[in-house]
Amino acid sequence: MHDEPLLSVSNLTVDLLTAKSAVRPVDGVSYTVRQGECLAIVGESGSGKTVMNFAPLGLMPTGVTTSLSGSVRFGGRELIGLPEPDIRKLRGKSIGFIFQDPMSALNPVRRIGRQIAEMAELHLNMTPRAAEARALELVKLVGISDPAARLRQYPHELSGGLRQRIVIATALAGEPKLLIADEPTTALDVTVQAQILRLLKDLQRRLNMAMVLITHDMGVVAGAADNIVVMYAARAAERGPVDKVLVTPRHPYTRGLINAIPKREDPIGSLFRGLPGIPPTLGAPLKGCAFAPRCDFAVPACTASRPPLVPSADGSVFVACPVVNEGRAAA
Ligand SMILES: Nc1ncnc2c1ncn2[C@@H]1O[C@H](COP(=O)(O)OP(=O)(O)OP(=O)(O)O)[C@@H](O)[C@H]1O
Ligand SMILES: [Mg+2]
Repeated sequence: MHDEPLLSVSNLTVDLLTAKSAVRPVDGVSYTVRQGECLAIVGESGSGKTVMNFAPLGLMPTGVTTSLSGSVRFGGRELIGLPEPDIRKLRGKSIGFIFQDPMSALNPVRRIGRQIAEMAELHLNMTPRAAEARALELVKLVGISDPAARLRQYPHELSGGLRQRIVIATALAGEPKLLIADEPTTALDVTVQAQILRLLKDLQRRLNMAMVLITHDMGVVAGAADNIVVMYAARAAERGPVDKVLVTPRHPYTRGLINAIPKREDPIGSLFRGLPGIPPTLGAPLKGCAFAPRCDFAVPACTASRPPLVPSADGSVFVACPVVNEGRAAA
């Protein structure tokens, strides 16, 4: 089908088994991303954002046994069950990524130019010479001045903002169709955060890439994303177009996240509002809505059974809340 989204995730469930624990950090999540579109995935720490994106690509730490069910289709191919050599060919090439941990992204003892060039050699089969020229182009593309000199430097010689630009250049070296950016700005100063976000957004538009932007910051979402998935304890609480979800959040958890954004009228130095209470642990099976214990609107139906995602009247926004959806049928 020619109008199939570039990425189509349906009912994805991920179970992780370690020597110490068995958890289900992703429990029946669905979303799509089309070419040129940006999807934001938001939610508190531990809600499953990173696992949801990286487990289907085989990018889990050693010592963890991962089982996946549901479907993850990318470019018309099913990734779940795809043999590891085929997945490896996609990683870093058709799908570029920026990892959450900034320290793991660059090799501290190798020159920047070599690190970018190697990605181009590996993914685009370039000769070392052509790859070096490509590295120079990429460093210019991410807005770094004096690019030739920068290519000869080591990561520690650069500021955090410049290093993140290099990380982005490396992620783009394989000419990806989809870029997964996991908290790409959290480790940076506030002013640099805005610059890096603008750069990512600009590159996404210019290269007509799809982008998944993982963040726990609702403020980041407004200017950057077309659609949003709000994760709570391994499940999607709400999903839909950003202009609808941010303007009229329906799920009480989404409302809480939006209220937690610092406002212009807040006195300087006022406490970050945050949400009261703590998220549940993922080990115990959940019968009802995981947010119910923290929710001001909870009714008995909330803890009776798992609330399904129900579409809004115009079919654009999906919300898993029995109170919001009272009297409406599930999709
Ligand atoms: N290596 C691991 N071993 C065991 N469990 C893990 C591992 N990585 C993640 N988990 C489990 O999966 C859950 C979700 O983790 P994940 O990293 O996806 O959260 P997140 O939403 O990305 O959080 P953050 O905002 O802090 O990055 C964790 O709460 C934890 O229970
Ligand atoms: Mg994460």
